[in-house]
Amino acid sequence: MLNRLRRLRSSAAMRNMLRETVVRPANLVYPIFVREGLRGAEPIPSMPGQYRLGLDRLSAISKELDHCGVQSILVFGLPSAKDDSASSATSRGGIVPQAVAELKSATPGLVVITDVCVCAYTPSGHCGLVIEGEVDNDSTLPVLSAMALAHARAGADVVAPSAMMDGQVAAIREALDGENLSAVAVMGYSAKFASAYYGPFRDAADSAPSFGDRSGYQHDPANIRHAERELLEDEREGADILMVKPGLAYLDVLLRARQLTRLPLAAYMVSGEYSMIKAASERGWLDERRIVLESLTAFRRAGADLIITYHAKEAAQWLNES
Ligand code: PBG
Ligand code: ZN
Repeated sequence: MLNRLRRLRSSAAMRNMLRETVVRPANLVYPIFVREGLRGAEPIPSMPGQYRLGLDRLSAISKELDHCGVQSILVFGLPSAKDDSASSATSRGGIVPQAVAELKSATPGLVVITDVCVCAYTPSGHCGLVIEGEVDNDSTLPVLSAMALAHARAGADVVAPSAMMDGQVAAIREALDGENLSAVAVMGYSAKFASAYYGPFRDAADSAPSFGDRSGYQHDPANIRHAERELLEDEREGADILMVKPGLAYLDVLLRARQLTRLPLAAYMVSGEYSMIKAASERGWLDERRIVLESLTAFRRAGADLIITYHAKEAAQWLNES
């Protein structure tokens, strides 16, 4: 029996027939950083191959994605001005609403997801408003709701609150429903751990906390039961998609999430994971293509429907070749 299966697997056709897990370009989501006032693209030093983009670059990017079969994009905004109340985050003419409109007019079929968080919009760099030196959960909720509304009005298909404030999914869901935007989905960053893997992102998004760290609102990497509770809580609050983040170091959490909920799941292979693979590949220490495709397969095997990855474009091209 064993020998027979082994012999069958030596044929490429049989291997394909028996393959349990498949990655398609349509499973991938490409994250981008859009900078207000920028023309062209600005390389991100800690993420080789990734750029902060001006609005003028978005139509080309969306067409490239469309061409290689990636159907979704996750937009992070970098405003030209920050203030303590994150007013540039909630403005209808803000950088993300502008980016959404631009992407949608270039490629109407593209599924546009927007990040909803204030850390790039306030001088403190925290994911919530800081009041008397502390991150204040409840006064952040209306800001996140207003931000989500601004994105949804501009045409976002999915809003993704990443601030890790308690009640953020419910607050946003209620705000959207109240404005006739019930068709806009919410993707919860439900199991988001306080992680060193976010290092390059904070550089890219200029969103590092100016004091303290995010351990007050992001999960302790040591705790899986806490993450499970938050996944279920986000589902109860009305999330349409749940996320686990970072990726490879948290596949156990992803598998648990898959067992706990019937909602679609997203895994975020974050900036640090991207940069580690790039750095080792540049030195010839790793085979980038094989590492990336193996990693994406692992996410799918563990239960991810969607994988958010800075490698989305390259990976889609590799998948299309094979
Ligand atoms: C912040 C946010 C972070 C990421 C997405 N949204 C960083 C953080 O929590 O400090 C990380 C993404 C990445 O590392 O690629 N709301
Ligand atoms: Zn944040």
